[in-house]
Amino acid sequence: MLTIEKLNALEILDSRGRPTVQATCRLASGCVASASVPSGASTGTAEALELRDGDPKRYRGLGCRRAVANVNETLHCALSGRAFATQAELDRALLELDGTPNKSGLGANAILSVSLAFARASARQRGVPLYQHFADIAGAPLATLPRPTINLFSGGKHAGAQAPIQDVLVVPAAARTMDEALAVAFAVYASAADLVLQKYGMRLLRADEGGLAPPFSSAEAMLADAVEAIGAAGFKPGEEVALAVDVASSHFFHDDRYHLGPVPLGSLGMIEELARWCAEYPIVSVEDGLAEEDWLHWPELRQRIGERALVLGDDFLCTNPARIRRAIDANAATALLLKVNQIGTLTEALEANHAARFAGWRVTISARSGETEDNWLADLAVGWGGDQIKIGSITQSERLSKYNRLLEIEAETRLPVVSWPQA
Ligand code: PGA
Ligand code: ZN
Repeated sequence: MLTIEKLNALEILDSRGRPTVQATCRLASGCVASASVPSGASTGTAEALELRDGDPKRYRGLGCRRAVANVNETLHCALSGRAFATQAELDRALLELDGTPNKSGLGANAILSVSLAFARASARQRGVPLYQHFADIAGAPLATLPRPTINLFSGGKHAGAQAPIQDVLVVPAAARTMDEALAVAFAVYASAADLVLQKYGMRLLRADEGGLAPPFSSAEAMLADAVEAIGAAGFKPGEEVALAVDVASSHFFHDDRYHLGPVPLGSLGMIEELARWCAEYPIVSVEDGLAEEDWLHWPELRQRIGERALVLGDDFLCTNPARIRRAIDANAATALLLKVNQIGTLTEALEANHAARFAGWRVTISARSGETEDNWLADLAVGWGGDQIKIGSITQSERLSKYNRLLEIEAETRLPVVSWPQA
C-alpha cells in the first residue's frame, strides 16, 4: 500500500517566467518525491482548468497561490493518512475532492501536481525507475523509445504570430537510436540557423519552444526553408529526415474561415491546401490541420491526407477520452497528441492513451510551450510506449532536461527507437 503522509506545494516559475505548481508527496514509508506541471499558451478550449489567482497586480493575474493552497490545505487534509493501492485509486480520490467536470474546483494544476508527485514517490517506494513504474501502471511491457519530433521553426502564438502556423518540426525518420536522432536534429537546426542568418539577416532569435522564428513570408516558406535546411545539413529530405507540422489552426480560424494567407479559406479550401503541402513537402504528421470545433470536416481531412501523414489531434482532442471516442467514431483522426495537463490526472491521460491505441491510432506524447526543468515526460513517453515525443527544440534547459533523460533511459535500457513509418 502507498500511504500518503504529507502533501505540500510551491509556486515556481516556468520557462516563460510564469508561475506554475510544484508538489511534493511524502509517503509513510519515508519515500519523498516532487513533480512540476507545465502550462500551454496555445490552449484548447476543452482543456481542464488551470487555476490562476487573477490578481492583476501580481504576475498579471497568473499567480498560482490558490492552486498551491489547494494542495497544502484541502488535498493535504483530505488525503494524508489515507492508503492507496494504485495510482487510479489516488486519482479517483482527487476527482471526487474536486467535484467538477473540468477541475475548476481545485484546479487541474493543483490536481496534476499531486497525481505526478504521488507516481514518482510510488516508483521510489517500489524501487523501480519512473519509466518502469509508468509501464506497470499502463499494464504493458517496455518495448521502445519514442521517436523525437523536434521543433525547427516557430510561428503562431509561440512566436508573436509573425507566421500563422505554429511549428515546423524535424523528424529524424531514419535514425535508429535516440543519440543519432538528436545529432541529426542538431545538424538540421544548425543549418537552419545559418539559413536564417543569410536569408533574413537574423541571428538566433528563439520562440517559446526554442524554434527559430524569422519573419517568414508565408506558412509555406517555413516548409520550403525547412527542406532547404535538411538538404544543407547533408540529409535526404523525406528519406532520412522528414517534417511534421503543427498547424494549430484553431488560432487563425475566425468567422468560419481559416486566415492562413491573404485570402481566407473555408474548411474545404484549407484541406486542399494541407493536401498540397503533403504532396509537395516530406510531411509525415499534420497536427490540428483544422480547428478544434470543425468536427464536420476532420473526417474529410483524414481521407485526403491520412495515407501519407498522421492526422494528429491536439486542441481538437485535448487528451479527453470523450472527445477521442467521438473522433474515433467519426473517423476524424489517426493520432493523438497526449498532454497530461490538458486533462489533469495520470489515470485519465492513460484512458486517453488506451482509447487511441485501441483504435489503432499513433500517439505523440507532448510537452507544453511553458515547461519546467522537471523531466517526468521522458519517463512517461517511454513507459506508455509513445510513438513520438514532442518536446521542442534541442535548446533551453526545460527542453534539454527531457532529451537528456531520454538519453539516460536509452543508455540504461538499450531499447530501440520506434520505427517510422510504422508497419
Ligand atoms: P501549447 O502548445 O503548449 O502552447 O498549448 C503546444 C502545441 O500546440 O503543441
Ligand atoms: Zn499543437
